[in-house]
Amino acid sequence: MKRTPVSTALGISYPVLQAGMPWVSNPELVAAVSNAGGLGVLHPTSGVEPGGDPVADLHAVVRRVQRLTQKPFGVSFHLPHPQIEQLIEAAAQEGINIAITYGGSPALFTGILKEHNMTVIHQVTTVRHARGAEAQGVDMVIAEGFEGGGLRGVDKVSTMVLVPQVVGSIAIPVIASGGIVDSRGYVAATALGAMGVQMGSRFVATKECISHQKYKTAIVAAIDSGTIVVGGDKWPTRILKQGIAMQMRESSLESGDDSAAWEQELGIDRTRAAFLDGDFESGIAYTGAGTGLISEIITVQEVFKDLVDGSHSLARKLV
Ligand SMILES: Cc1cc2nc3c(=O)[nH]c(=O)nc-3n(C[C@H](O)[C@H](O)[C@H](O)COP(=O)(O)O)c2cc1C
Repeated sequence: MKRTPVSTALGISYPVLQAGMPWVSNPELVAAVSNAGGLGVLHPTSGVEPGGDPVADLHAVVRRVQRLTQKPFGVSFHLPHPQIEQLIEAAAQEGINIAITYGGSPALFTGILKEHNMTVIHQVTTVRHARGAEAQGVDMVIAEGFEGGGLRGVDKVSTMVLVPQVVGSIAIPVIASGGIVDSRGYVAATALGAMGVQMGSRFVATKECISHQKYKTAIVAAIDSGTIVVGGDKWPTRILKQGIAMQMRESSLESGDDSAAWEQELGIDRTRAAFLDGDFESGIAYTGAGTGLISEIITVQEVFKDLVDGSHSLARKLV
């Protein structure tokens, strides 16, 4: 895999980021990804008991990752979090220098993150958002297509068409995300102009991830049509077709635009039971449309072996 401005700026061997996912971006997964040559990304809710102080929890989980790897890793920040400033401060105190931001305007916190000498990578779902993020001084964007797992952009633009348009619209590096699970997706993303990729669902179904075995098995069992998007126009969220997901599809909420109600139904509080207990009746399982391409629960090292070896052999075939 060639070095790119993404791998060079982040100090990693391969320009592959693991998405910061609530509950399941546990320190062991993050460290395994960084040790394999990618960028592990910690989510402040992962690997901690519920109900704790988020700031103290973040200090603790960052230290756990630091005991497991000497390699760079990042922290994911949900910008509307009520304690966002304290979380940023805590990460800075622990020496974190890579921030992945999402869910809100980069206008408010990019300056503070940069004052802490962090490289800021903002998640966007349209060209307009990408231009706005660049104007606010972020260093890179992650262009998140509609194929990805979890909350999606309201404009529902797919990875295939989003990435080249974002690449053509801004000067900073673009990382492609959404539906990328293997070397084929990696090579396709680079052909679209991306300088790196971010993958979520693939890493949920790895041995190092603390996601429940039933969740991993359901990802492996799912076929091409194994996910649905619920949440109406205001809260489109891609989840596994399991348990409560089908009732949500039929619910009266689906035809309305009540985003507060959907936030209640689909926000991260509703995911914990599915992610960690394998309970698909009271919890929902965010998963990307690429799940049909995931056929085994493997180690993080094996994910990277496929990415590296597979992209070399694909590149030889293509030229
Ligand atoms: C288990 C899981 C949890 C996720 N949680 C969030 C989240 O809380 N907020 C968010 O913006 N994106 C979330 N995502 C989306 C990821 O950031 C990323 O965009 C997505 O995983 C990429 O697509 P893929 O799953 O096809 O690799 C989540 C994805 C997964 C699979």
